[in-house]
Amino acid sequence: MTSTIHTSRVHDSAHLHVTGAARYVDDLPTPRGTLVVVPGLSTIAAGRITTLGLEDVRHSNGVVAVLTAADIPGKNDVSPVFGDDPMLADGRVDYHGQIIYAVVATSVRAARAAMAKAVITYEARRPVLTITDALAQDSLLRAPWVVSNGDAAKAIAEAPHQLDGQITIGGQEHFYLEGHAALAIPDENNQVMVHVSSQHPTEIQHKVADVLGWAYHDVNVEVRRMGGGFGGKESQGNHTACLTALAATITGAPVKMVYDRDDDMKITGKRHDVIISYRAGYDDDGRIIGVEFEQALRCGMSFDLSYSIGERAVMHADNAYAIPHMTVVSKLCKTNTPSNTAFRGFGGPQGMMGIERVIDEIAHALGRDALDIRKINFYPDHGKGEPAATHYGQVVKDGVINDLVAKLESSSDYASRRQQITAWNAERPHLKRGLALTPVKFGISFNKTILNQGGALVHVYTDGSVMLNHGGTEMGQGLFTKVKQITASVFGIDPRQVRNTPTTTAKVPNTSATAASSGTDLNGMAAYNAATTIRDRMADHLAELHQMAAEDIVFEGGMVTLGGEAISFAEAANLCWQGRVSLSSTGFYATPDLTWDPQLGKGNPFFYYAYGAAATEVVVDMLTGEHRVLRVDILHDAGASLNPALDLGQIEGGYIQGLGWLTMEELVYGDDGRLLTHAPSTYKIPAASDRALIQHIDLYDGGGNLAETIYRSKAVGEPPFMLAMSAFFALSDALSSACPGYPGLNAPATAERLLMTAGAVTAS
Ligand code: MTE
Ligand code: MOS
Repeated sequence: MTSTIHTSRVHDSAHLHVTGAARYVDDLPTPRGTLVVVPGLSTIAAGRITTLGLEDVRHSNGVVAVLTAADIPGKNDVSPVFGDDPMLADGRVDYHGQIIYAVVATSVRAARAAMAKAVITYEARRPVLTITDALAQDSLLRAPWVVSNGDAAKAIAEAPHQLDGQITIGGQEHFYLEGHAALAIPDENNQVMVHVSSQHPTEIQHKVADVLGWAYHDVNVEVRRMGGGFGGKESQGNHTACLTALAATITGAPVKMVYDRDDDMKITGKRHDVIISYRAGYDDDGRIIGVEFEQALRCGMSFDLSYSIGERAVMHADNAYAIPHMTVVSKLCKTNTPSNTAFRGFGGPQGMMGIERVIDEIAHALGRDALDIRKINFYPDHGKGEPAATHYGQVVKDGVINDLVAKLESSSDYASRRQQITAWNAERPHLKRGLALTPVKFGISFNKTILNQGGALVHVYTDGSVMLNHGGTEMGQGLFTKVKQITASVFGIDPRQVRNTPTTTAKVPNTSATAASSGTDLNGMAAYNAATTIRDRMADHLAELHQMAAEDIVFEGGMVTLGGEAISFAEAANLCWQGRVSLSSTGFYATPDLTWDPQLGKGNPFFYYAYGAAATEVVVDMLTGEHRVLRVDILHDAGASLNPALDLGQIEGGYIQGLGWLTMEELVYGDDGRLLTHAPSTYKIPAASDRALIQHIDLYDGGGNLAETIYRSKAVGEPPFMLAMSAFFALSDALSSACPGYPGLNAPATAERLLMTAGAVTAS
């Protein structure tokens, strides 16, 4: 039998995904009499509700109940951390699209017809909408937070060259294909079962219990899978779950809620848009001596996860570069917009864009290829020179970026293509090509240390089949497939002998969100530990039966070898059952050696770093601003990959999603705070046709993870997202060859923005 790990295996639900048999919340068969909930949204961005006239709604056909803040027996809160997200607005409104009330009805149609009769009046207040507004009015969620090493101001002042500037980077809608959804089924004696599309079943359990005023053990939460989460279902599923649970307990009926796409886009938070101001000092070779950043993030009306997202943005302001003097100031802007939330990279992408911009601009000022400036500033590779510390104090001991980039530079023919592009551009006034190669160094572990724990529950049945449950959730990334491979490898059986069961709070308690790319690191290790406990018990028992040493018993190829004899894993399991040996175990894992002081912004918050690099070539039509990605070459470090096929999928998907963020997806709010781009008609995500014409994606062979992760693999969920920075800087490079000055491009680099940027630079 081939090894079950380090081999490509198809996603264990792939056949269900492609045939439509995979069940999402809205596909679950519902009990007779299931009702629906539809949310009533605010039509102003800030102010007070002066009249909440819902009587006519209540008496409409098909309406069973109308919920307002007054109906909540427990806490009116669905926030993940700070208690600042009312489930239903209570007098005050803080953003356009905020949920004020909810209608429980026999059908969505009936609810919508009834809601047309709502009479709501407001006393509106001038909203704080943009980052600039918030900074001008000092509307911040917390005092500015500063992390620094060395003396950046002095280093910049004394450096041979200085530059300063600003980059604005837009937000991003998650656009998971399955929108937020929940189904709550009331159970006897004050209990409720909630099926929900969420990355965080435990938090759902807590929030539902708090809203109802119940204990956690009264609430059972189950997640089979999500049709994508991307961070958007880390905290923002709380709303649907709590509303359905409340409606179910009030009416005594099962209740389902599925946001329609427009509502989903209006109600839920997105990636934080950001304005990064920078000042840098550098020498003649482009070596950065000191840099200062101010990162101003638009958080929306409450914290949600912004505290930690702001931290991660600060912690990635260095990306892959050792900068001796650095100061980062983080400002969390409070605005009357949806509460922005986790999104693949969790602030890291925003943080990295600052330093990549600085390098791009230095290269322009010195008339050098930006790749040279990047290379001269890299952290050293492990074993090559003195390791350097980041601005938050963690020493980068596992560097590989020099070697990785050298390999990509050569495999992508960077140097010769650079020459071809220069020659090509010289002959064409209206079409300009650009090329950029950018690195990624991404810290793996939740920055909040306590969250770095995972649990699993494994049962072996007497026929040798194995049931696997763990605290992680499946959102398409392939976590279940990987953890299944790991579990099978411990027993030496085929992964098909292991069945994944839906994530549920009743089997593995007190879990963290499946996030920070740590799903496999945490839950894979927990499942490994659970399976190992069972295997060791089996070995002990069989050793006793056969009068041999337990260490000499081999579990491999679906067989258990006992000296000269080999029996099937099923027979072994049955023998152990007959010997009254427990064939069930929990497993637990907590990442070792992590420290973090959130006040000082110092510590060793990450177990290790994941690395990658991408080279992207683009062509821009200077008459229309339209562009196309011609070629991308990616080399990414997934450690000793558990499943190369899944990892390559994550890398390709991450890159494309990043490409959408930086080059096409644009969120537009009106002056009244209304989201104008609340449907795919106005909000453009990448399509299959936006894929690079030539695409080479490879896994870096760096000999596995230096940190002791599960089978020396590396997390791969988020890091590839940031590979798309290469596309953005390739566009900047293309503009540079057409314009006299530095283009100073902002994101997203839509056709309009490329055209206007080129026009502005040329005119100045
Ligand atoms: N891949 C798919 N197909 N769908 C998703 O929703 N979410 C990303 C990434 N890859 C996502 C995905 C995000 S934001 C994270 S944090 C990780 O997957 C979470 O899963 P992991 O920890 O198992 O990598
Ligand atoms: Mo991912 S943004 O950590 O859910």
